[in-house]
Amino acid sequence: MSWDRSSWKNFNILQQPTYPDMGAVEAVKERLYNFPPLVFAGEVRSLKSDLARATRGEAFLLQGGDCAESFANFSANNIRDMFKVMLQMAIVMTFAAGKPIVKVGRLAGQFAKPRSSDYEEVGGVKLPSYRGDIINGFEFNEAARVPNPERMIEAYHQSAATMNLLRAFSRGGLANLHEVHKWNLGFLKRAELQAKFNALSDSISNALKFMDACGINTQSAPTLNETKFYTSHEALLLNYEECLTRIDSTSGDWYDCSAHMVWIGERTRGVGDAHVHFMSGIKNPIGVKIGPNASAEDILRLADALNPENEAGRLNIIIRMGADKIGDRLPKILRELKSEGREILYSIDPMHGNTVKAGNYKTREFDMILKEVQSFFEIHKAEGTKAGGIHLEMTGQDVTECTGGAFNVTEETLKERYETQCDPRLNADQALELAFVIADNLKAVD
Ligand code: PEP
Ligand code: CO
Repeated sequence: MSWDRSSWKNFNILQQPTYPDMGAVEAVKERLYNFPPLVFAGEVRSLKSDLARATRGEAFLLQGGDCAESFANFSANNIRDMFKVMLQMAIVMTFAAGKPIVKVGRLAGQFAKPRSSDYEEVGGVKLPSYRGDIINGFEFNEAARVPNPERMIEAYHQSAATMNLLRAFSRGGLANLHEVHKWNLGFLKRAELQAKFNALSDSISNALKFMDACGINTQSAPTLNETKFYTSHEALLLNYEECLTRIDSTSGDWYDCSAHMVWIGERTRGVGDAHVHFMSGIKNPIGVKIGPNASAEDILRLADALNPENEAGRLNIIIRMGADKIGDRLPKILRELKSEGREILYSIDPMHGNTVKAGNYKTREFDMILKEVQSFFEIHKAEGTKAGGIHLEMTGQDVTECTGGAFNVTEETLKERYETQCDPRLNADQALELAFVIADNLKAVD
């Protein structure tokens, strides 16, 4: 089947905005085609080989960030805090597992949201749903909710600025292992968690002192001073993704240069549909979300379409079944797929299958999140397959969006700092606590 970056238009497509003026969309696209890429093909290939290692169980994927980035909450401090928490989690996990953690942010482009309903109704007023800042506005009024293509330009610029900061953080010394004590965000609430992290930083400092005495330090091994940090988002708005998709001059292949990795959501993964078609033509690592109703056959057809050469590191199946369903559904899928010999990196998104309503708030119970993660590890162990990664909605901020956890957010305290524009995120404490649980599981594997 012939493919080019705009051939997705010939396929059935779900979850797209209806723009009032398609001429304005085309004008924006003309500008975007000429904007510089946000990532480079060589970096994307480096992520693919890191993910190939995770597929083989030699590394572990940590993917996390906001449910939806927003124009309003764009700030250097927010990005820095997210980066720090991910680094802290990665350190906890590396130390336990003795293997590299591949860090991938839901960052620098995570702006488009699939919605379960096209409309939102509040107090008898019905308006089109908010679909992410790249499409329309969050405020509940008619004008804000009209899709505006100029938002694609703003999303691009915010992504470029975010990327710039992430590159600076990962190479400019913030990731220096000698600074690990300073990564603590001031507000870790539970003393026990603080103490656990401090004990770990002490062990790392001692190991670094020993290495320094042996002549291995930031001068002789500059990688101690830096880290690799990749970006990803749901490639939902194909008019935008198309414009950032470019031919790599060294290989002649197409890469979506809006992020290192992109994924397809649970609602748009139809094998004959536009999103799978678009993703089949680009060389980036591709994630696909898999909910509780999927079968092994569905995953096989996705693998045929997205990874016909069975390349390791290309396909990441992101399981999001919910704590109550995973035990029932995942073992059978893994068993059926095992005999097919497909290169699949399995990771767990314990967020999207565990969303509940508490009054007016969408929330998630931290215990259910832990339970799904724990089941994911146990099921892989029982089936003899690899638990390769985790996919989280989280923030470096001290929000109260998921209930439970070290700081014991309750249904009553949710409203104190409920700041997400979309789904509830783990706060920094909850994210770090989860990292310790994952670390115990990774330790148990070897
Ligand atoms: C998401 O990751 O924000 C999301 C919408 O996930 P899913 O497609 O799994 O529902
Ligand atoms: Co979400």
